[in-house]
Amino acid sequence: MRFFIKSYGCQMNSYDSQRIGDLLIAAGHEPSSSLDEANLVILNTCSIREKAEDKIFSDLGRLKIIKEKSSEKFLITVVGCMARLRSAEIVRRVPYVDAILGPGEIHRMADIVEDISGDKKKDVVVSVSAAAADKFSQLSDKFFNRSVSEFLTVQEGCNNFCSYCIVPHTRGREFSRSVSDVVREAKKLVSSGVKEIILLGQNVNSYKGEGRDGKSRNLAFLLFELAAVDGLKRLRYTTSHPKDADAELGRAHRDIEILMPFLHLPVQSGSDEVLRRMKRPYTRAEYLKCVDTMRGYRPDMAFSSDFIVGFPGESDGDFQQTLQLAEEVGYALAYSFKYSPRPNTAAALMKNCVPEEVKSERLRVLQTLLDKQQSEFNQSFAGKHLNVLFVKKGRHKNQLVGRSEYSQAVSVCDNNISIGDVARVKITGMASHSLIGTVEQ
Ligand code: 5AD
Ligand code: SF4
Repeated sequence: MRFFIKSYGCQMNSYDSQRIGDLLIAAGHEPSSSLDEANLVILNTCSIREKAEDKIFSDLGRLKIIKEKSSEKFLITVVGCMARLRSAEIVRRVPYVDAILGPGEIHRMADIVEDISGDKKKDVVVSVSAAAADKFSQLSDKFFNRSVSEFLTVQEGCNNFCSYCIVPHTRGREFSRSVSDVVREAKKLVSSGVKEIILLGQNVNSYKGEGRDGKSRNLAFLLFELAAVDGLKRLRYTTSHPKDADAELGRAHRDIEILMPFLHLPVQSGSDEVLRRMKRPYTRAEYLKCVDTMRGYRPDMAFSSDFIVGFPGESDGDFQQTLQLAEEVGYALAYSFKYSPRPNTAAALMKNCVPEEVKSERLRVLQTLLDKQQSEFNQSFAGKHLNVLFVKKGRHKNQLVGRSEYSQAVSVCDNNISIGDVARVKITGMASHSLIGTVEQ
């Protein structure tokens, strides 16, 4: 069949979507670059906020019309977090879906497609119960269509149960892949042309994978192992929990040349009271100390964060503390969201909900500050040099777009540079969220 995968939500979903693609290609199916040409659509869904789920239900409504009009067999499958969380509701509201697979069952995709593509009309196939532990060993060992920079999931699931978060309910408890499994996959990626690997985990720095000697190994150990993979030019990892960002990780940043000086360290709120109710096990002072420790090892470390505004009971004073914390850290990049109650989470039962208009206003104020910080960070490189890994073609003739060590998008126009090269670039200008430069010969 000709398949099209639409991925919603986080980078882990992008990784899973790629692995589903590998499985389907290995089974003889053909990837399609647009929905119009496909006859198998896979929605890899997200439940992190209510808005994400609403969007997916509305996309499913559109797919129904396409399915009805289609002259050939047209299959719709729903996979990922929302599939796990809302399978019964999906079957009820969207009975024309052919299969529903949770995030821990994506390795079964090729078999399921085989099953549902037959002539007989079948009930919706629903398989959502497994957590991640089994899936990695059963994914395809073939990699198709990789680009210069790719994700590699090393840890999945979460044991923290932050009071607002749905992830422990969708991805299950923490599971770490073994060191040798990760290194094997990294080598494969590099041999298929990948130059930068971004390690993924819901709590990537609480990675505890089995080492070759049977001992449990942490993320710093894994990073040192991966740094030795021949041909790998850059390493990154995300998302880190502040409780596990320790000195050993700092030392890895100091000692591993290919480990980029960029740390995504979500703080969520700058108020101790809100952090306590969010069940985040650190105070604002501890978070700031962690930032300092990391800067001690890597003075040029750039930080990014996630923020939630309008958590139940968040006062104006709490919100001011969030703004002050952002001022103190000076983020290179940040994502901020309005709190969205999620089913079966502790926060969904909390009182003192913040009115929608207050949430919107706080989000506007915070985003204005974070945007300003991002532009200031970018502007601080005017006239300076950055090492850029070029990852794709730009829109203009001879234009290439890449990423700096600090994850900024940088574009150049140069005939002598190819995708996959790392070059020293002098920054000559700025666009809204990116930098423009010239390659130093
Ligand atoms: N409401 C709003 N934002 C949320 N996030 C997680 N759960 C929720 C929620 N219920 C945000 C957090 C997290 C990011 C991936 O999404 O900031 O770090
Ligand atoms: Fe969304 Fe979280 Fe699932 Fe990623 S892990 S798809 S962010 S709910």
